[in-house]
Formats: sequence, C-alpha cells, structure tokens
Amino acid sequence: MTQKKGNGRTRAGKDADRKAGPSSGSLPPRRVRGGEDSGSPGAGVVERVVAKHHGRKRALIPILQDLQEHFRWLPPEVLDEVARQLGLPTAHVWSVATFYRSFSLEPRGRHTCTVCLGTACHVRGGAAILEHFERRLGIPAGRTSADGEFTLERVNCLGACALAPLVVVDGEYHGQMTETKANDVLKKITPRKDG
Ligand code: FES
Repeated sequence: MTQKKGNGRTRAGKDADRKAGPSSGSLPPRRVRGGEDSGSPGAGVVERVVAKHHGRKRALIPILQDLQEHFRWLPPEVLDEVARQLGLPTAHVWSVATFYRSFSLEPRGRHTCTVCLGTACHVRGGAAILEHFERRLGIPAGRTSADGEFTLERVNCLGACALAPLVVVDGEYHGQMTETKANDVLKKITPRKDG
C-alpha cells in the first residue's frame, strides 16, 4: 500500500483531520469503552486485532486495515487505543492513518461508490457520471450521506483505463459506465433509492 492521500478529499475533511490529528497527541489518550457488539469503538476489538498480529509494532498498517474493515472507518478513540496497546506514540499512529488514502478518519457509508476521473475516464465522460452520482445520492464527492448509506469518492485512476469511464461500487468494477447503468447499479443495492 503506497498511495498517499490526495486531492480526492474535501478541504473541510482535511481541516477536520488536522484539527483531530497528531496535534491532539499531547492530550492524554482517550480510552474507549470495552463494548464490542454495539458498533461503537471497543477496546476489546483493538485488543483482539493487536493480538492477531502478535502485538508487533511493525504490523501497525495491517492492524489499522483490520480495524477499518471492522468499523468501516478509524474512529479517533481506536487510533489512541492502538497507540496505547502497541506502545507507540499517538502522533505516529495518527500520522500513518492520515498518510494513506485508503484509511478513512470519517464515518463511511454502508456502500461506497468510487468514480474515476483519471484522464481516460475523464475524456469518456467521467465528470458527467460523477455529477449523476452526486445528484442521485444527494452528496458531493468526498462525503457520506446523512443516513450513513453511501460514501461517494472520486479517484484519479483505478488502473483499468480500458473500462473507462469506470465506477467501483462496493469493490465491484463497472466499466463503460452510463447514467442508465448507474441507475441500475444503485437500484440493485438500494431499491428504494430508485424512484
Ligand atoms: S483513468 Fe480511470 S481507470 Fe485509469
């Protein structure tokens, strides 16, 4: 995993990251509640994941990947707990989590729609496809819908330019995307969204 966070995020999101990020490292670590089954961050979940990786500091990235898979994002309390359990500086854990674009420090929707706006996709109508998704989902790129159903992202290239314009929905590639296809895809995952 080498991708650095880029311009796919909103300025507001970056500002929020900065406010919540390593600068808060001087504060005492926030402890998380031990509950694991409520969907809220739990120290027990962190403990299990850290144990799975034998508490190795060098396993920080796979640990964060596992935790993101569990929570669908990396809550601040979880990052602090990881630092505490691994014996790493809080600022270091935060810097890793903010460096990689694949980590999200904001709650993500149940479904993720990623629209490619790389050159190949852009010249084949990617911008119009993105606008269509924004209209249909009622959110701009880089945001999550208020009901927690959708996160809409834009990226610069997904490495499958022959499929342009390309959209990835919940990990599934949909090439030669059109507005009609987009409607079909959205209808399949949330029938009530298609009016
Ligand atoms: S430009 Fe879209 S996949 Fe490469």
